[in-house]
Amino acid sequence: MQPDLFSSSSGTTSPGTPHWQERAAWLKSELNRHNHAYYALDNPTIPDAEYDKLFRELVALEQAHPDLISPDSPTQRVGGKPLPQFEPVRHAVPMLSIRTETDTTEGGAIAFDARLRRELGLGVDAPALEYAVELKFDGLALNLRYENGVLVQAATRGDGATGEDVTQNIRTIRQIPLRLENCDAPVLEVRGEVYMRRDAFERMNERQREKGEKAFVNPRNAAAGAVRQLDPAIAAQRPLSFFAYGLGHVQGWQTPESHSETLDALAGMGMPVNAERRVVAGAAGLAEFYKHVASIRDALPFDIDGVVYKINSYALQRRLGFVSREPRWAVAHKYPAQEQMTVVRDIDVQVGRTGKLTPVAKLEPVFVGGVTVTNATLHNEDETRRKDVRVGDTVIVRRAGDVIPEVVSVVLERRPEAVGAPFNMFQRLEGKCPVCGSHIDREEGEADWRCTGGLVCAAQRKQAFAHFAGRRMMDIEGLGDRYIENLVDLGYVHSIADLYRLKLDDLLDMKRRADERDGVTPETVQKGKIATKWAENLIDAIEASKNPPLERLLFALGIRHVGETTAKTLADWLGSLANIRQAPVALLRVLPDIGDTVAESISEFFAEERNQQAIDNLLAANVKPRDEHPPSAKLREKLGQAELLAALRIPKFTETRCRQAAEQGVTVMSLGDIGTSDSVDLPKNIKESIVEWLAQGDHADLVRNLDRVCRALLEQLPAGAAPELGHLTGKSFVLTGTLPNLTRDEAQARIEAAGGKVSGSVSKKTSYVVAGAEAGSKLTKAQDLGVPVIDETALLRMLEEK
Ligand code: IVH
Repeated sequence: MQPDLFSSSSGTTSPGTPHWQERAAWLKSELNRHNHAYYALDNPTIPDAEYDKLFRELVALEQAHPDLISPDSPTQRVGGKPLPQFEPVRHAVPMLSIRTETDTTEGGAIAFDARLRRELGLGVDAPALEYAVELKFDGLALNLRYENGVLVQAATRGDGATGEDVTQNIRTIRQIPLRLENCDAPVLEVRGEVYMRRDAFERMNERQREKGEKAFVNPRNAAAGAVRQLDPAIAAQRPLSFFAYGLGHVQGWQTPESHSETLDALAGMGMPVNAERRVVAGAAGLAEFYKHVASIRDALPFDIDGVVYKINSYALQRRLGFVSREPRWAVAHKYPAQEQMTVVRDIDVQVGRTGKLTPVAKLEPVFVGGVTVTNATLHNEDETRRKDVRVGDTVIVRRAGDVIPEVVSVVLERRPEAVGAPFNMFQRLEGKCPVCGSHIDREEGEADWRCTGGLVCAAQRKQAFAHFAGRRMMDIEGLGDRYIENLVDLGYVHSIADLYRLKLDDLLDMKRRADERDGVTPETVQKGKIATKWAENLIDAIEASKNPPLERLLFALGIRHVGETTAKTLADWLGSLANIRQAPVALLRVLPDIGDTVAESISEFFAEERNQQAIDNLLAANVKPRDEHPPSAKLREKLGQAELLAALRIPKFTETRCRQAAEQGVTVMSLGDIGTSDSVDLPKNIKESIVEWLAQGDHADLVRNLDRVCRALLEQLPAGAAPELGHLTGKSFVLTGTLPNLTRDEAQARIEAAGGKVSGSVSKKTSYVVAGAEAGSKLTKAQDLGVPVIDETALLRMLEEK
């Protein structure tokens, strides 16, 4: 790639500027642009690998020419040296807080509007006030200072007058632009909230728990901890996000007339501004927004604790002014809290689908996050002990979004004298699964205790059935938890294949026995009338599920670590259940996106005789994937000897060494000769390591099996099959404007499915620019560079051609 192809984005270097300076400037602006598209707009413009390549190039250039490093360089996001402490920052304009309206009904909105109307002296006939309404993010307030468009300082709120300089940490937040677009005002301070998304928080905590380390209490604490982390390298690993909601000190920028226009302008400069905001009229508008946000609160990817109403016009804001340290023109209207106190009555243990044993606190019912909660997860033994949750304790329970309620912490001051003993899983269960009585086990390095009963355990079996029948798996409509419960408890199904042997009479029998057991036999049944429609439907649904796509059947089997994506990879690459169920672990490791843990888990699943038997039983019941095919032709590349040797994971025999060995003709099959062969040039210690490895356990058999299976797979490939490349491979597209039918994502997905690439900027190398309505500068650039411009119809035709 040559910088001159992209002259529009760097463009300003004068004649005589060294080429690396020009290249670095171009790289910086490209990377910043991609960052913005990825993190702020959620619309990536290039693949990650491509981004990494550009990034590494810039790092190398900056290392060679340190004078190129500037505060707006994307390389400066990685976090510098640990700080001894934070420097104080005096805010040019104090950071105030807002008054909170705690009435969690619409009344709170009405009271605020009435108060402002009174203060402005508006009569009943005066028009409604205009408000800018937005979310109240539950994070930490920040002041970002941009000078001449470049981020120079980030400070926390502190006591409102003086905060702390956290610039180093904030630079690591990719959503925050290091340079504003189209703004070179001498000073522009942007205020907003730094927060952590719930999914990022859950993932981070899950990792902490897996490592047996302390989990964070809630996203707000995790975010605050990360911002005030003295080691920026650690801060950089905490996934933070940011939303702008206002201004601080401004110099040399023509501030708009209203708050909503300011937020629009900030968004235009590349600042992340939340889209869930409106301009509304009067109390009715406020109340409507309050209700609307309440209804979407659980679905938002981050926590909020309310909404904020602000008078939109700055002129009116000035007229209203401040009382003590709070503006009169704004109010925060809260929602019911997502954290509440209650008492632990007992600690139970639940058995998960894979046997995981989870301690669950049984609580005095408490209303939190909009529902009554009686159970909250304690995650695992370590976590329960770390929080020291005991029966009788008063605890804080949290329920946010659709996340399972959890016990956050114990209120120690309220611990009663007669509190229970510290939680001990083994003692609590007397070493036995509470459902099936199999012994429980906790492997070294694992955070979880497990029931060893596998599908012998009714709890695991029930959940395995529920998973198997699920909508995204075998999709057996009508086979809900209640029927599964009865079918398992009353002994009608033991293994998944038993489902396919159920007869109408079995179902009716099951229902009758279950009703008798529960003492709920309906009157109609007592009178001899038996409803059969449901059972007929269920039998039909089971029958209809017999020929799913292979990937669904694989996903349905409930193999640990195999989600939909992995199931699809296995199905696409290996083509048939027969190939997959006999794939050696080394073969699985060479498939894309399958790491060692996943490969091992798949191979352990199929190594289990019971599981192979269950699959045979399914096949015997005529359950068969409908779309089996030969393995992917691309498999040929993956099954090179160097790749396979490396996948054996022999100590010291690194990828590079495997490549060297393969170049000298070493194959999986001839590996056994390596100790005696002088013709292979490899360091002695590596040869010794290979010989030692081959002598261990069943490794020699494993190698023979790998070779046999790989040969068999290659034989299934159509002779000399060309690699399966889409017909648009090698073609690059740039999309601009609005297409009449396809959304941008759809167009991109379809181009990529055909092997083409979609890029964000036009260059001489672009094959086609696809232009829709209101196409902008990219269209002009394509015309300047002579790149062919096509419309949606032509694109669709091209996609359909083969
Ligand atoms: S405006 C003078 N807007 O809530 C008004 N604040 O007490 C300045 N917050 O710590 C604040 N979301 O960090 C404003 N959309 C929003 C907000 C918001 C969250 C936080 C802010 C401050 C507290 C206000």
